[in-house]
Amino acid sequence: MFKSICAIAAGSLLLASATVQAASDKGTIVIKFAHVVADSTPKGQGALLFKKLTEERLGDKVKVEIYPNSTLYGDANELEALSNNEVQLLAPSLAKFEKYTKQLQVFDLPFLFDDLAAVNRFQKRAKGRQLLRSMEDHNIVGLAYWHNGMKQLSATKALRVPSDAAGLKFRIQPSTVLEAQFNSLGATPLVLPFADVFDALKSGKVQGAENPWSNIYSKQLHSVQPFITETNHGVLDYMLVSNPRFWYAIPHQIRMQLEGIIDEVTFEVNRQAEAANQADRERIAAAAGTQVIALNDEQRNAWRNAMQPVWQQFEGVIGADVMKAAQTVNRNKSN
Ligand code: LMR
Repeated sequence: MFKSICAIAAGSLLLASATVQAASDKGTIVIKFAHVVADSTPKGQGALLFKKLTEERLGDKVKVEIYPNSTLYGDANELEALSNNEVQLLAPSLAKFEKYTKQLQVFDLPFLFDDLAAVNRFQKRAKGRQLLRSMEDHNIVGLAYWHNGMKQLSATKALRVPSDAAGLKFRIQPSTVLEAQFNSLGATPLVLPFADVFDALKSGKVQGAENPWSNIYSKQLHSVQPFITETNHGVLDYMLVSNPRFWYAIPHQIRMQLEGIIDEVTFEVNRQAEAANQADRERIAAAAGTQVIALNDEQRNAWRNAMQPVWQQFEGVIGADVMKAAQTVNRNKSN
């Protein structure tokens, strides 16, 4: 028994160092970091800061290549590329991991987190930290959570009350929670990769979408969505992930430095995300042709009441423990 465990361990070690070698270029470890958004967004800025700090501190030991805007891999193939070690870092939205773990669906539940500060508290607590390791069986290791922001609903018509969304088609990320959320409004959800959202909205293939301000502004989605309702109904955050066979084969000393850099970058991304989104909100509000619709408490409660029944549908798959932990982080609850 012991022998076979040793054989498996030795085998994984060999595979691991082959994996790092495969990503090496003349002794330099090459880390390809692919993502689907613009450089100007919180994730785009985080990726660039990771490259800058890594290259400043690790010189020619590690080279970081950033591929933004789905230029290397996009939603359809990036996680497969990670598992094949064709790319070594990704930061997909938490909605994009459903194939690998149901627990992360907690982040998609509408009106679960009051704001980004509540999301932050959940991510820092034991349950949130545990979820970083929830995909290791699928060769995905979570290194950090990065914020983007709260999502807003955009459409070709003004969405003031939930029934305004009925009959419209909305682009969604690949998440059954988001599918149920739009079904609960009598709308039709359609899963599309992020790279296709602008064209789908422009051509009328879908009439609406949900995104944080930074994604809307950086992709100019507001130019094809005359109405944006400030619902803050859910969160769009990321998990920075690698392939454990690659990550744990990086020489210990270097890996420790990389993980220290990731901690610093995470702090910066998460410190700046909210302000970056607010600045983009102002730019959108000032742009001709787009109306930002603010909701009062009563109106927002109507959206909450329409969407919240979705929680019950998913309690069994997400886990009551995870959902309960997430519900204790809002400001009006004891923390
Ligand atoms: C989306 O598909 O709308 C987002 O996940 C894109 C992103 O990475 O922010």
